Formats: sequence, C-alpha cells, structure tokens
Amino acid sequence: MIDISACITAVAGYVPPDKLTNADLETLVNTTHEWIVERTGIHERRILKGEKGTSTMAIEAVKCLCEKRGITPQEIDAVICATITPDMLFPCTANLVCDALQISSLSFDLLAACTGFLYGLEIASNFIKSGNYKKVVVIGADKMTSITDYEDRTSCILFGDGAGAVLLEPNYEGVGILDTLLQTDGKGKEILYKKAGGSAFPITPQRLEQKEHLFHQEGRQVYKHAVSRVSSTANTLLTRNQLKGEEIDFVVPHQANERILASIGKRINIPYERFTINIDHFGNTAGATIPLCLWEWEKQFKPHHKLLLTAFGAGLTWGAMYLTWGYAAI
Ligand code: UT7
Repeated sequence: MIDISACITAVAGYVPPDKLTNADLETLVNTTHEWIVERTGIHERRILKGEKGTSTMAIEAVKCLCEKRGITPQEIDAVICATITPDMLFPCTANLVCDALQISSLSFDLLAACTGFLYGLEIASNFIKSGNYKKVVVIGADKMTSITDYEDRTSCILFGDGAGAVLLEPNYEGVGILDTLLQTDGKGKEILYKKAGGSAFPITPQRLEQKEHLFHQEGRQVYKHAVSRVSSTANTLLTRNQLKGEEIDFVVPHQANERILASIGKRINIPYERFTINIDHFGNTAGATIPLCLWEWEKQFKPHHKLLLTAFGAGLTWGAMYLTWGYAAI
C-alpha cells in the first residue's frame, strides 16, 4: 500500500478593512493602550462591520485559495469550517460557503473553539489518507466581535474578526501532516463559555439582559491552563517524533495573549523569534488565528521546513500538530 500524507498546498486569508484600535477601546471602557499592550500584546484588531456573518469572510478566503492554487471551487471534495460564530446554528457556515461558490461536496462545521482549526486539519488529514478525497478545504473563521461584551474591559480588548483557509492534497513522499495530539477536558465548561442560544439555555429577554449570549471567561484560570496544557502536549508530541525544540523552524500558535506564547516558548525550548505572531495586529481571532498566520508567513516557509502548530480554547480543548511544509510560495 502507498503511504499517503495530507499536505498543505495553498493558503489564503481574509480580514475586514475596518480597524478597532486600543485608542478606540479607551473611549468604550476604562482601559489604556499601555495596559492592553503590556498584558496582551495587542495593538489593534480587524472588525467586520454591519449585518454580515462569518461566512462573508470565509467565502473571500476560499475564493482566494482556489485562485492561488489554480483550481475551480467545483474540484473541491470536502469543506470543513471551524467556527464558534456561525452565521446561524443551521444550515452551517460551510454550507453557506459552498452555496456562494457553487460547491456541492460534503461540507460541515466543526465546533472546537480556538482549537477548531487543528481539529479540522486532523479530520481532513484522515480524509486524504483514506484515498477517497483529493482536495479538502479547511477553513478557520470567526466573527468574535459578534459575541463580545463591549462593556466588559477584561474581554472586549481581546477579540478581532477574520478567516483563513488551507487546501490539503495527497503527498506520496512523506511531506505534510506527520503527527497530531488533540485533547479535551470537559470541566473547562466552568471557566470559558457562551451560555445562551443553545437548547439548554434558549435566548430569553432575561438572558439577554444578563448578557448570557456573549463570551465569558475566567481569564486568570484560562491563562494557567493554556500555558501548562499546551506546553505539556507539545513536548509529548516533540518527544515521540524524536524532535528537539531547536529543530522546529516555525511555531504557528493560536494566540490569545502574547505572555502565554512566551511562557510556552520557554517550556518547549523554542526561541520566541520562531513564533509567527499576528495577535499584535489582529487580536485573538479564535479559529482563524492559525490559518491567518500561515497566510501571512507563507513566503517565509520553505519546502521541508518543520512546523509546530499549537492551540488552546474553550472545552477545554487543546492540541499540537507537527507537519513539514510542501512548497515555496511565489
Ligand atoms: O482564546 C481563548 C482562550 N483565552 C485565553 O487564553 C485568555 C487567557 N487570559 C488572559 O489572556 C488574561 O487573563 C487577560 C488578558 C484576560 C487578563 O489579563 P491578566 O493579566 O490575567 O489580568 P487580571 O484579570 O488578573 O486583572 C489584573 C487587573 C485587575 O485589577 P485589580 O483587581 O488587580 O485591581 C483587573 O480589573 O487588571 C484589571 N484589568 C484591566 N485594567 C485595565 C482587567 N482588564 C483590564 C483592562 N484595562 N482592559
């Protein structure tokens, strides 16, 4: 049997043009530019204005992805969209992307919060390895500003909107996604959630009044879990692939706070200069962070570069993925 690995063959991204700066936030809540930069590393974020859903950004990303790879959307065999801010509960956002681009393949959304894009890559990788799918698109897209409470200074400073997408295709030379470790701890439901809007807690005027339809987290606790769990999982993944930290060319992390990333870097023994960082200009874009980073750093990745992808989010969910890069971008 021929060994197939799933290789990223194109990446694309879309961020809306409007910016929300720290100076803008100073006019909304009791905060300062200095506090935000020192505690999070964020300077500005992109926000999708108006009655537009996550799909509008995802559609742009997938359109651009097809153009870059020189394929028509109709050649795509599956579309997976990782999001916690779908346009609506159903039909799913992946279906809306397919409708806009006239794709009739299998398509579904995946809800694993900020780890969603890694979960999507792992599923897509196995689709490709099965031999039944030749072109699988994984989207990470979120309009986090649609669930942000702009009266809560501890969380409204964090989030931005955006979408990224990658195309996975079979590789027969051992290049691509080589190992993944994804984990969950359901007890995390106590410290990171959006309570209302599902079947257990439908939206009511009272719940709206109490802002239960918006993002909530216990920041300090989430912070500690993010550092310890991502470091431990990444170290396990590196060890079982006989890799030392210094052999990794780039770390592509989900980004909720720059201090979290610096701590993880120390614990996994990878110099911080190898971390691809977009939180300073995009904020925390949830499922979109990793593909947006791949998109912005694409030209610096060379064939056979070793990449470590890491993520942490609600669930709790977290994980790490080791892959080798497949192409030199023009
Ligand atoms: O992507 C999903 C996963 N999410 C994460 O990984 C996020 C993890 N958590 C964090 O990134 C950080 O906990 C935050 C950025 C949310 C908060 O930073 P922190 O350093 O943990 O601050 P803190 O919550 O411990 O608050 C420290 C102080 C408090 O004041 P007192 O009680 O010490 O007087 C807060 O009220 O900072 C105050 N504070 C602020 N001050 C100015 C909190 N938010 C702000 C603010 N501006 N925006």
